[in-house]
Amino acid sequence: MDYFIFIVIAYLLGSIPTGLIVGKVGFKIDIREHGSGNLGATNTFRVLGIKAGIIVTVCDILKGTLAAVLPVIFHAEQVYPLVVGLFAVLGHIFPIFAKFKGGKAVATSAGVILGVNPLLFIIMICSFLIILYISKYVSLSSMVTGIITIIVTIIQQEVGLMIVTSILTIVVIYRHKANIKRIINKTEPKITWM
Ligand code: G3P
Repeated sequence: MDYFIFIVIAYLLGSIPTGLIVGKVGFKIDIREHGSGNLGATNTFRVLGIKAGIIVTVCDILKGTLAAVLPVIFHAEQVYPLVVGLFAVLGHIFPIFAKFKGGKAVATSAGVILGVNPLLFIIMICSFLIILYISKYVSLSSMVTGIITIIVTIIQQEVGLMIVTSILTIVVIYRHKANIKRIINKTEPKITWM
């Protein structure tokens, strides 16, 4: 029963469409109709600017973090935070509050890792920024960071984390199908500010 409650709460948390809310409330814009059309932090930066982008990034990360730490806060020892976190990511991708059309899982996945292993989260951020500095592609940096995260969990011999980061990375890469095609065709937009 505990598991069911935490999983439902995680899914609902993940379903909060922060990019849509910030866009509609602050700018009267549906970001799904602009830029890449993705309901995520990157497209928020692209369409609504730096302040809105930062707000959505932080909120999308915190959705995953909160979902993962809830079982710890409520001392539900038999509930595995990483499993609960997966449902926040599911909600972010298929949000019940936004016609099941959500984001690409990057920020919320990172948030789940932050809630479970903050050191791994810091490694992820460093890896993301280094790859972004070199490639200028947010999408590529997100995918490669996922792969690096799996490698780190293998080195750390963290089996649970390795399984969950593998699932998350497969999901992230799958959600970036269109970006991969654009990278190959050299039509994927690069960032210009770094
Ligand atoms: O986090 C999503 C990012 O990697 C790509 O987003 O909007 O460029 O497709 P977007």
